[in-house]
Amino acid sequence: MIKIGHHVTIAMDGPAGSGKSTVARRVAEKLGLLYLDSGAMYRAVTVLAIENEVEKDISKLIELVKTCRIEFMDNGKKILLNSEDVSVQIRTPEVNKLVADIAKVPEIRHEIVKHQRKIGEEGSIIAEGRDLTTIVFPDADFKFYLDASVKERAKRRFLELQAHNTDITLETVETEISERDEKDTSREHSPLRAAKDAIRVDTTGKTIDEVVDFIVAQVNSRN
Ligand code: C5P
Repeated sequence: MIKIGHHVTIAMDGPAGSGKSTVARRVAEKLGLLYLDSGAMYRAVTVLAIENEVEKDISKLIELVKTCRIEFMDNGKKILLNSEDVSVQIRTPEVNKLVADIAKVPEIRHEIVKHQRKIGEEGSIIAEGRDLTTIVFPDADFKFYLDASVKERAKRRFLELQAHNTDITLETVETEISERDEKDTSREHSPLRAAKDAIRVDTTGKTIDEVVDFIVAQVNSRN
Protein backbone atom coordinates (compact mmCIF):
# COMPACT_ATOMS: atom_id res chain seq x y z
CA MET A 1 0.00 0.00 0.00
CA ILE A 2 1.08 3.57 -0.71
CA LYS A 3 1.86 5.48 2.50
CA ILE A 4 -1.04 7.62 3.73
CA GLY A 5 -0.56 11.34 3.13
CA HIS A 6 1.99 10.75 0.40
CA HIS A 7 0.54 11.62 -3.02
CA VAL A 8 2.00 9.27 -5.62
CA THR A 9 1.70 9.55 -9.40
CA ILE A 10 2.54 6.59 -11.60
CA ALA A 11 2.58 7.33 -15.34
CA MET A 12 2.64 4.60 -17.95
CA ASP A 13 2.84 4.80 -21.73
CA GLY A 14 3.02 2.32 -24.57
CA PRO A 15 1.43 1.29 -27.86
CA ALA A 16 -1.95 -0.41 -28.35
CA GLY A 17 -2.00 -3.93 -26.93
CA SER A 18 1.13 -3.52 -24.80
CA GLY A 19 -0.92 -4.47 -21.73
CA LYS A 20 -1.11 -1.00 -20.18
CA SER A 21 -4.81 -0.94 -19.32
CA THR A 22 -4.98 -4.39 -17.74
CA VAL A 23 -1.70 -3.90 -15.88
CA ALA A 24 -2.57 -0.39 -14.67
CA ARG A 25 -6.02 -1.48 -13.50
CA ARG A 26 -4.52 -4.32 -11.43
CA VAL A 27 -1.75 -2.14 -10.00
CA ALA A 28 -4.45 0.39 -9.02
CA GLU A 29 -6.38 -2.34 -7.18
CA LYS A 30 -3.28 -3.70 -5.44
CA LEU A 31 -1.96 -0.32 -4.31
CA GLY A 32 -5.31 1.41 -3.73
CA LEU A 33 -4.81 4.05 -6.45
CA LEU A 34 -7.10 5.97 -8.76
CA TYR A 35 -6.92 4.60 -12.30
CA LEU A 36 -6.93 6.90 -15.33
CA ASP A 37 -7.44 5.39 -18.79
CA SER A 38 -6.48 8.40 -20.91
CA GLY A 39 -7.19 6.57 -24.18
CA ALA A 40 -10.83 6.22 -23.10
CA MET A 41 -11.06 10.02 -23.04
CA TYR A 42 -9.83 10.37 -26.65
CA ARG A 43 -12.21 7.57 -27.56
CA ALA A 44 -15.10 9.44 -25.87
CA VAL A 45 -14.23 12.55 -27.90
CA THR A 46 -14.35 10.36 -31.02
CA VAL A 47 -17.85 9.19 -30.03
CA LEU A 48 -18.77 12.85 -29.54
CA ALA A 49 -17.57 13.57 -33.09
CA ILE A 50 -19.50 10.65 -34.57
CA GLU A 51 -22.71 11.38 -32.65
CA ASN A 52 -22.65 15.03 -33.78
CA GLU A 53 -21.42 14.19 -37.30
CA VAL A 54 -18.46 16.55 -36.98
CA GLU A 55 -15.65 14.04 -37.65
CA LYS A 56 -14.52 16.24 -40.57
CA ASP A 57 -15.41 19.60 -39.00
CA ILE A 58 -12.61 19.85 -36.46
CA SER A 59 -13.30 23.46 -35.38
CA LYS A 60 -16.91 22.49 -34.47
CA LEU A 61 -15.58 19.43 -32.65
CA ILE A 62 -13.12 21.56 -30.66
CA GLU A 63 -16.04 23.75 -29.50
CA LEU A 64 -17.99 20.65 -28.45
CA VAL A 65 -14.98 19.27 -26.57
CA LYS A 66 -14.63 22.54 -24.63
CA THR A 67 -18.15 22.21 -23.23
CA CYS A 68 -18.56 18.43 -22.97
CA ARG A 69 -18.38 16.51 -19.70
CA ILE A 70 -16.27 13.36 -19.54
CA GLU A 71 -16.46 11.47 -16.25
CA PHE A 72 -15.27 8.11 -15.01
CA MET A 73 -17.24 5.80 -12.73
CA ASP A 74 -16.25 2.70 -10.74
CA ASN A 75 -12.59 3.72 -10.81
CA GLY A 76 -12.30 3.82 -14.59
CA LYS A 77 -14.52 0.86 -15.44
CA LYS A 78 -17.21 3.11 -16.94
CA ILE A 79 -16.94 6.35 -18.88
CA LEU A 80 -19.73 8.91 -19.23
CA LEU A 81 -19.96 11.48 -22.00
CA ASN A 82 -22.39 14.26 -21.08
CA SER A 83 -23.96 11.82 -18.56
CA GLU A 84 -24.40 9.08 -21.19
CA ASP A 85 -22.58 5.79 -20.52
CA VAL A 86 -20.42 5.31 -23.63
CA SER A 87 -18.24 2.47 -22.26
CA VAL A 88 -19.34 0.14 -25.08
CA GLN A 89 -19.42 2.71 -27.91
CA ILE A 90 -15.79 3.77 -27.32
CA ARG A 91 -14.56 0.25 -28.25
CA THR A 92 -16.24 -0.13 -31.66
CA PRO A 93 -14.16 -0.71 -34.85
CA GLU A 94 -15.41 2.68 -36.12
CA VAL A 95 -13.87 4.44 -33.11
CA ASN A 96 -10.66 2.35 -33.37
CA LYS A 97 -10.25 3.57 -36.92
CA LEU A 98 -10.92 7.25 -36.25
CA VAL A 99 -9.48 7.90 -32.79
CA ALA A 100 -5.83 8.52 -33.76
CA ASP A 101 -6.89 11.21 -36.26
CA ILE A 102 -8.99 12.97 -33.63
CA ALA A 103 -6.28 12.60 -30.95
CA LYS A 104 -3.66 14.34 -33.07
CA VAL A 105 -5.49 17.70 -32.95
CA PRO A 106 -3.53 19.95 -30.53
CA GLU A 107 -6.57 21.94 -29.30
CA ILE A 108 -8.35 18.70 -28.42
CA ARG A 109 -5.26 17.38 -26.61
CA HIS A 110 -4.99 20.66 -24.72
CA GLU A 111 -8.52 20.30 -23.30
CA ILE A 112 -8.10 16.62 -22.47
CA VAL A 113 -4.70 17.09 -20.81
CA LYS A 114 -6.15 19.88 -18.59
CA HIS A 115 -8.87 17.48 -17.50
CA GLN A 116 -6.36 14.67 -16.87
CA ARG A 117 -4.17 16.87 -14.67
CA LYS A 118 -7.25 17.84 -12.62
CA ILE A 119 -8.04 14.15 -12.10
CA GLY A 120 -4.40 13.69 -11.06
CA GLU A 121 -4.91 16.19 -8.24
CA GLU A 122 -7.65 14.04 -6.69
CA GLY A 123 -5.23 11.56 -5.12
CA SER A 124 -2.57 8.95 -5.73
CA ILE A 125 -3.03 7.71 -9.26
CA ILE A 126 -1.83 5.41 -11.99
CA ALA A 127 -2.47 6.93 -15.42
CA GLU A 128 -1.79 5.26 -18.74
CA GLY A 129 -1.77 6.24 -22.40
CA ARG A 130 0.61 7.71 -24.96
CA ASP A 131 1.87 10.96 -23.41
CA LEU A 132 1.43 10.49 -19.67
CA THR A 133 5.16 10.15 -18.93
CA THR A 134 6.19 12.92 -21.34
CA ILE A 135 3.48 15.61 -21.33
CA VAL A 136 0.69 15.07 -18.81
CA PHE A 137 2.74 14.10 -15.75
CA PRO A 138 6.40 14.80 -16.65
CA ASP A 139 7.23 14.92 -12.92
CA ALA A 140 5.52 11.62 -12.08
CA ASP A 141 7.11 9.68 -9.22
CA PHE A 142 7.27 6.56 -11.38
CA LYS A 143 7.35 6.20 -15.14
CA PHE A 144 6.99 3.02 -17.11
CA TYR A 145 7.03 2.32 -20.84
CA LEU A 146 5.37 -0.96 -21.79
CA ASP A 147 6.00 -2.56 -25.15
CA ALA A 148 5.66 -5.89 -26.97
CA SER A 149 6.11 -7.08 -30.54
CA VAL A 150 3.32 -6.05 -32.92
CA LYS A 151 2.48 -9.73 -33.51
CA GLU A 152 2.02 -10.37 -29.81
CA ARG A 153 0.00 -7.17 -29.33
CA ALA A 154 -2.29 -8.06 -32.25
CA LYS A 155 -2.78 -11.57 -30.87
CA ARG A 156 -3.81 -10.19 -27.46
CA ARG A 157 -6.32 -7.79 -28.99
CA PHE A 158 -7.65 -10.51 -31.29
CA LEU A 159 -8.29 -12.87 -28.35
CA GLU A 160 -10.00 -10.05 -26.42
CA LEU A 161 -12.25 -9.28 -29.39
CA GLN A 162 -13.01 -12.96 -29.96
CA ALA A 163 -14.18 -13.24 -26.38
CA HIS A 164 -16.79 -10.63 -27.31
CA ASN A 165 -17.79 -12.62 -30.39
CA THR A 166 -16.50 -9.91 -32.69
CA ASP A 167 -16.24 -11.08 -36.28
CA ILE A 168 -12.69 -9.95 -37.10
CA THR A 169 -9.51 -11.65 -38.35
CA LEU A 170 -6.06 -11.57 -36.76
CA GLU A 171 -4.69 -9.90 -39.92
CA THR A 172 -7.24 -7.09 -39.68
CA VAL A 173 -6.35 -6.49 -36.03
CA GLU A 174 -2.62 -6.42 -36.84
CA THR A 175 -3.15 -3.95 -39.68
CA GLU A 176 -5.32 -1.71 -37.49
CA ILE A 177 -2.73 -1.73 -34.67
CA SER A 178 0.18 -1.05 -37.05
CA GLU A 179 -1.66 1.87 -38.63
CA ARG A 180 -2.49 3.33 -35.21
CA ASP A 181 1.15 2.86 -34.05
CA GLU A 182 2.34 4.74 -37.11
CA LYS A 183 -0.09 7.63 -36.53
CA ASP A 184 0.58 7.81 -32.76
CA THR A 185 4.38 7.80 -33.10
CA SER A 186 4.70 10.12 -36.08
CA ARG A 187 2.22 12.88 -35.18
CA GLU A 188 3.55 16.38 -34.57
CA HIS A 189 2.02 16.96 -31.13
CA SER A 190 2.73 14.65 -28.19
CA PRO A 191 3.83 11.63 -30.22
CA LEU A 192 4.15 8.31 -28.44
CA ARG A 193 7.72 7.87 -27.24
CA ALA A 194 9.40 6.54 -24.15
CA ALA A 195 10.43 9.26 -21.69
CA LYS A 196 14.19 9.19 -21.04
CA ASP A 197 13.62 8.39 -17.37
CA ALA A 198 10.92 5.74 -17.93
CA ILE A 199 11.57 2.12 -16.97
CA ARG A 200 11.06 0.04 -20.10
CA VAL A 201 9.17 -3.20 -19.74
CA ASP A 202 9.03 -5.61 -22.67
CA THR A 203 5.87 -7.60 -21.99
CA THR A 204 6.40 -10.07 -24.87
CA GLY A 205 6.08 -13.56 -23.39
CA LYS A 206 5.29 -12.21 -19.91
CA THR A 207 2.04 -12.79 -18.06
CA ILE A 208 -0.02 -9.88 -16.75
CA ASP A 209 0.80 -10.97 -13.19
CA GLU A 210 4.54 -10.88 -13.88
CA VAL A 211 4.33 -7.32 -15.17
CA VAL A 212 2.04 -6.23 -12.32
CA ASP A 213 4.37 -7.75 -9.71
CA PHE A 214 7.38 -6.03 -11.28
CA ILE A 215 5.69 -2.62 -11.16
CA VAL A 216 4.37 -3.08 -7.61
CA ALA A 217 7.87 -4.15 -6.48
CA GLN A 218 9.41 -1.04 -8.09
CA VAL A 219 6.91 1.22 -6.33
CA ASN A 220 7.22 -0.52 -2.96
CA SER A 221 11.01 -0.41 -3.11
CA ARG A 222 10.90 3.38 -3.13
CA ASN A 223 8.07 3.96 -0.66
O1 C5P B 1 -5.09 3.44 -25.20
P1 C5P B 1 -6.07 3.31 -26.35
O2 C5P B 1 -5.63 2.32 -27.38
O3 C5P B 1 -7.47 3.13 -25.89
O4 C5P B 1 -6.01 4.75 -27.06
C1 C5P B 1 -6.77 5.03 -28.20
C2 C5P B 1 -6.09 6.12 -29.01
O5 C5P B 1 -6.16 7.37 -28.29
C3 C5P B 1 -4.60 5.93 -29.29
O6 C5P B 1 -4.37 5.13 -30.44
C4 C5P B 1 -4.13 7.36 -29.50
O7 C5P B 1 -4.39 7.81 -30.82
C5 C5P B 1 -5.02 8.16 -28.55
N1 C5P B 1 -4.36 8.47 -27.29
C6 C5P B 1 -3.53 9.56 -27.25
N2 C5P B 1 -2.95 9.95 -26.07
C7 C5P B 1 -3.16 9.25 -24.95
C8 C5P B 1 -3.99 8.10 -24.97
C9 C5P B 1 -4.55 7.72 -26.18
O8 C5P B 1 -3.30 10.21 -28.27
N3 C5P B 1 -2.60 9.65 -23.82
